Amino acid sequence: MSGVRLVVFGRQGAGKGTQCAVLSEHYGAPHISTGDMLRAAVAEGSEVGRRAQSYMDAGKLLPDEVMLDVVRDRLAHDDVVEHGFLLDGFPRTVGQAEALLDMTTVDAAVDIDVPVEVVRERMLGRGRDDDTPEVIDQRLAAYEAETVPAIERFAAHGLLERVDGLGTPDEVTARLVAAIDGRVAGA
Ligand code: AP5
Ligand code: MG
Repeated sequence: MSGVRLVVFGRQGAGKGTQCAVLSEHYGAPHISTGDMLRAAVAEGSEVGRRAQSYMDAGKLLPDEVMLDVVRDRLAHDDVVEHGFLLDGFPRTVGQAEALLDMTTVDAAVDIDVPVEVVRERMLGRGRDDDTPEVIDQRLAAYEAETVPAIERFAAHGLLERVDGLGTPDEVTARLVAAIDGRVAGA
C-alpha cells in the first residue's frame, strides 16, 4: 500500500472535481469520483447505471450498499494499490464513512468550504443535467442532512482539514496542497 490516500469533501459545486483533477497530477494518485463513475454507468446503460439514473435526476443519494459495491471494486484496482486515491463524492453518509474507514486507511480528509450562495451560482453557470434550481436544492439538502455528519466522523478521527474554497482555482489548489502536505509525511 503506497501513495496518498485522501478524501475530498465539499458541498455540491465547491470544486471537488476541479481540484481533484489537479491534485491527481500533483500526487500521482487516481481521482475517483463516484458521480463521474455513475454518469459513465448511466451512459453505458449498465445495471448500476439504470438504477442510478432516477436518483441522480432527483438529486437524491443512491443507497449505501450500491455505492459500497462500486467503491470497494474500484479500490481493489492496481492503480489504487500502487498510488493511493483521491476520493471525490464518497463517502457521503455516516454509513459510507464508517465502511470506508473499515475498508482502508485514509491519510487525511479535506473539506473545500464554499458558501451555499456561491455554489448555487457556480452550478447554474456550469449547467450539468442535474444543475436545475430544484435539483440543486435537493442535492444541497442531502448534503446538510447526510454528508455533514459524515464529515464530522473524519473530524472526530482527527483526519479533517478545512480549506477556504473561495478565490481562483489556483489559490484553492495551493491551500489544499499546503493542508495535505502538512498531514502526509513525504508527500
Ligand atoms: P457528483 O457528481 O459528486 O455531484 P455533486 O456532489 O453534486 O458535486 P459537483 O460535481 O456538482 O461539484 P464539485 O464539487 O465537483 O464541483 P466542480 O469542480 O464541478 O454526484 C452526482 C449525483 O451522483 C449525486 O447527486 C447522487 O445522486 C449520486 N452520487 C454520487 N456519489 C454518491 C454517493 N457517494 N452516495 C450516494 N449517491 C451518490 O465545480 C463546480 C463549478 O464551479 C464548475 O463550473 C467549475 O468550473 C467552477 N469552479 C470550480 N472551482 C472554482 C473556483 N475556485 N472559482 C470559480 N469557479 C469555480
Ligand atoms: Mg464533481
